[in-house]
This record gives sequence, C-alpha cells and structure tokens, in this order.
Amino acid sequence: IPGTPPTPPETTVTDKYAYAFDIDGVLIRGGRPIPEAIEAMKWLNGENPYGVKVPYIFVTNGGGKTEQERCIQLSKQLEMEISPGQFICGHTPMREMAEQYKTVLVVGGEGEKCRQVAEGYGFKDVVTPGDIIKDNQDTTPFRKLTKEEYENSRARNFAEVEIEAIFVFADSRDWACDQQIILDLLMSKNGRLGTRSETFDEGPPVFFSHNDVVWSASHDLTRIGMGALRVSLEAMFKAVTGKNLETTAFGKPQIGTFQFATRLLQQWRKDTHGIDSPPDTVYFVGDTPESDIRGTNEYDQHSENNWYSILVKTGVFEAGTKPRFTPKATVDTVLDAVKHGIEREY
Ligand code: G3P
Ligand code: MG
Repeated sequence: IPGTPPTPPETTVTDKYAYAFDIDGVLIRGGRPIPEAIEAMKWLNGENPYGVKVPYIFVTNGGGKTEQERCIQLSKQLEMEISPGQFICGHTPMREMAEQYKTVLVVGGEGEKCRQVAEGYGFKDVVTPGDIIKDNQDTTPFRKLTKEEYENSRARNFAEVEIEAIFVFADSRDWACDQQIILDLLMSKNGRLGTRSETFDEGPPVFFSHNDVVWSASHDLTRIGMGALRVSLEAMFKAVTGKNLETTAFGKPQIGTFQFATRLLQQWRKDTHGIDSPPDTVYFVGDTPESDIRGTNEYDQHSENNWYSILVKTGVFEAGTKPRFTPKATVDTVLDAVKHGIEREY
C-alpha cells in the first residue's frame, strides 16, 4: 500500500553471543564520543537489519569516579542508558580488598573523588596525599595545598599511623608530590611516615588499578598513563635504594579482570534479558593491543567460551604498524566491530 512504512523486523535478544567494550579510544576520546559509537550502540540495541539485540558490558581501565558517576557520564555521551550493572573500571575489582587492609593511601584523580570511591568500596580508613601534606607541609618542598585542598584534607598525626597498603586508583595529578609520598612509605618501617627502614623491604604493597603506559585522550598522539607512573616509580625506587620494587597492577590485561567481566556479564544477561546459559562467544572491542587484545586472547585460552578480540583504529593502535598482540580482526571503528561480529554470527 503506498505510504505505508516498511514493517521493522521484530527484535529478539540473542543468547548466543555478547559484546564487551573498552571505552577510551573505542567509544570516547577526550570526553567526546567517537562519531561511530552512537550508531554502534543503536545496532546492538536492535536497530540493525537482522532485528537482533545483543547484550553488552563495558570494561575500561579508566577510573577516578564511582561506577555510578561514570555511568551517568557515559549515558550522556552515548545518548543511551548505561547501568553500573554492565560496567567495570580499573579499580572496581579493588573493592574485594577492602577487608584485607585497614589504613590505606589512595592516590590519583580529582579532589576527594578517589577517597569517596575507596570508602564506597568499604575501605575503613582512607588517607590521601593531601592529608599527609596537611600534617607536614615539608613533605613536598615545591607543593603547597590550595585553600580548598587544605580544607578537604583530614588532619591527623601520621607519626602514629601505619599505612598498610597503597592504591593508585586514577592518574596522578601531581607526579612529583605523589611519588615523593609513595617513596617515603616504601622506604619506611611498616608504613609509618618519618621512619626509614634499613633494608627497604618493610614498606606497604603498591597496587595500580591498571598498567596502561599510554592511552588515547584528546591529543592526536597517545598520552602517558598510569603504567608510566608505575615504570617511573619502580625506576626511582631502584635508583634511591638499589633494590627492585615489585608492584601489582589490576585492570586489563589481567585474567582476574576478565573473570570479573565474565561474572558481571552473566549477571547482566540474567537480570536484564533472563538468559541463564553462558554465551558461546564474547566479542571484545579495544584499541590497545597490550591491554585489550592481549587480555582477550589470553583469557580465550582459559575460558570455556570464546573470547574474540577486535582491534579498532581510533585509539592507541596506529594503522600501518604491527600490533604486539594479534587480534582476531582489525577494523576501522567500533561500528565496524559491531557489524563484524553480528555478520559473523549469520
Ligand atoms: O586511563 C584510562 C586509560 O588508560 C584506558 O582506558 O577505556 O581504554 O581501558 P580504556
Ligand atoms: Mg582503550
């Protein structure tokens, strides 16, 4: 009948496969959506020629805000609703360590945000570098707290405090200051500021929420990230003490992060789509060979289902070079990645 719009295909949710997305360099760059990202999400939500809806989650190494806050921001950027039930950031798995350590130093991020994240995870006593400078401003000779920082920081006598672990939750906003304080603790007796160990092996453990040496921000070229701080800290510890420093990184490519993602996806598929069985294939779309592709490929070896790595060219990976870890597919954008997986299933 002339004038009648074509009937859209009925959409059904697939239980056979699912998607997991990296964020920076795949969906977002410098706070703005990558142009194809919005269309890619529409495809997954059923606006595609196959009439299929595909469940998906987000696995970013980024952080510095609560999962809730990150999801509100991402929902605005991608013009759709994203729930914390489908979202993991670099520090999310750290919440499982809240019972293990009482007093912890939390480093990185804007203002008091990371303290709030850590307290939200259940950490009992969270110290920031600002608290330490407030107690003794000679800690950092070239850095004074602003009025706001001074007011937000918590006064206490650190000569009486043992800091049991150091968590780098987000990128340091002041490398010199944060590294000085971390180094002081690493060289201390049992995390007590103002003391010096004779053996330099009595300091607290250091955990990084990820190990990306570079990442994709608004600049055309990659920018240094948390993994660079880790390299720097380890080199500095060696230069000052002559000893090697062992630190631990969470996030991708760690297997633990992919196991966490598997549990999240399972719960998400069950709660929102009523799917009880695991998917045959999870398509992971990323821009960083060392984190996204390496992690997906290694996890694929361990996992009962298939984890299929797709590398995009909108972030860290530079077209024309050979990635250090080989993806199952390389495509231009996240929209091509979504089309690639869906088409492969038919
Ligand atoms: O700081 C965040 C960055 O290193 C990577 O984030 O989303 O690409 O895993 P993402
Ligand atoms: Mg990325």
